[in-house]
Amino acid sequence: MDDLIVEQEAIMLARTTESVRMREEAQSVLAGGVASSWQDAPPCAVWIDRGKGSRIWDVDGFEYSDFHGGFGVGLAGHAHPAIVEAVQDRVTKGTHFAQPTEDAIVVGRELAKRYGLPLWRYNNSGTEATMDAFHLMRVATGRSKVIKVEGSYHGHHDAAQVSVYPRIEQAGSVEQPNSVRYSTGIPDPMAQLTIIVPFADLAAVERALATHKGEIAGMIVEPIMMNIGMIPPPAGYLADLKDLLHKHGAWLTFDEVKTGFGVAPGGATELLGVTPDLLCTAKAMAGGLPCGAIGGVPELMGLIADRTYEQVGTFNGNPLTMAAARATMQSVLTGDAYRHLDRLREAQVSGCEDVLKRYDLPGFVRAFGAKGAVIFTDRLENYRDFLNYDDQWGNAHWLYQHNGGAFLPPWGKCEQWTMSVQHTMEDVNCFVRNFETFARALRGGTIA
Ligand SMILES: Cc1ncc(COP(=O)(O)O)c(C=O)c1O
Repeated sequence: MDDLIVEQEAIMLARTTESVRMREEAQSVLAGGVASSWQDAPPCAVWIDRGKGSRIWDVDGFEYSDFHGGFGVGLAGHAHPAIVEAVQDRVTKGTHFAQPTEDAIVVGRELAKRYGLPLWRYNNSGTEATMDAFHLMRVATGRSKVIKVEGSYHGHHDAAQVSVYPRIEQAGSVEQPNSVRYSTGIPDPMAQLTIIVPFADLAAVERALATHKGEIAGMIVEPIMMNIGMIPPPAGYLADLKDLLHKHGAWLTFDEVKTGFGVAPGGATELLGVTPDLLCTAKAMAGGLPCGAIGGVPELMGLIADRTYEQVGTFNGNPLTMAAARATMQSVLTGDAYRHLDRLREAQVSGCEDVLKRYDLPGFVRAFGAKGAVIFTDRLENYRDFLNYDDQWGNAHWLYQHNGGAFLPPWGKCEQWTMSVQHTMEDVNCFVRNFETFARALRGGTIA
């Protein structure tokens, strides 16, 4: 595996010379030579020139089927005609007033219909959406602590930056993990207000509620974990979790920043049939423009309405993002689009499963809606399993896909593919072909 990675990194570097040059040029003005730290992955940050449909082109002119989707944003694909039209129309009428426009009502109705929650507010990112959720649960209960799952990522505000990817030496016991701050930028007293539990472990939540009796405002959970591969919850877990939290006067927030729109029209809430008290979404909701949203039950969102909690932001409900969000929900992410995604997903999953079997590789495929991942380990049910999962597999797979013209997110074992409504079977075939090239290389070039 190590040899294959060295070889594939050399191939990648040899054809991304302009990316390397731009990265060097950028170092003088951008810290680390990139615009966000996770845009940089070994062997080099790939600089993009443009995108159209399911394809993107890097600055060296190399074309890819885009399975990265800008970290899960790209359900609409690139330059979708409906988004282009909506943005072009809005841009000529002014793009910012810090006063609401009609599209905000239309988008709110769409969100309410998809997620079954009546009241919404907007912001600009997943981070802002989950930050509002932490605040709102605290305001509603007068309590300070929030339960979070070990290994989940909910954005980069203080309360969420706890036990994101803790090292095993720091993580504490499996049953009662430590609250480990992601960096020293998070004050430790702040981190101690975020109580950590393993995924899908109700007993651990019950223990946390007992240990911190009367102090827990609520819990935030990704209904399908998506930043440590892909982990669905066991049957009944989310419904029981909601009941348990309510029994203790605490609230349940779903972080659907990644799952929202991606796994079903109404996200994991629709797919799994449990409606939370608060729901955060962002990424795919505005067809590639930066937008976030928080929705919830009247008991919580009413605290915004009566101004107990001032949910604010200069760009909240920005006219351009609202126009794009309206077009995304009304014209792009339609029933037909999800049926198309279902067909693509089935083909990609069965293609990858076939390769795993024929080449006798470890692992399995998980996929929901537009999203999926090949998981190169026998068991992935929580963060401790993730720690035992050798990341060289995902890394090598990423390189093979990249050199074969399919752009996956880097950080192989953390991330997953995202397909867009503009993907076709040609894109799927490219992905499966690259996967077989990787499998064959691992098996010493023998064709199964
Ligand atoms: C589940 C989840 N929540 C929140 C966030 C933060 O979103 P943003 O990067 O838009 O702030 C992310 C980003 O990857 C995410 O995956």
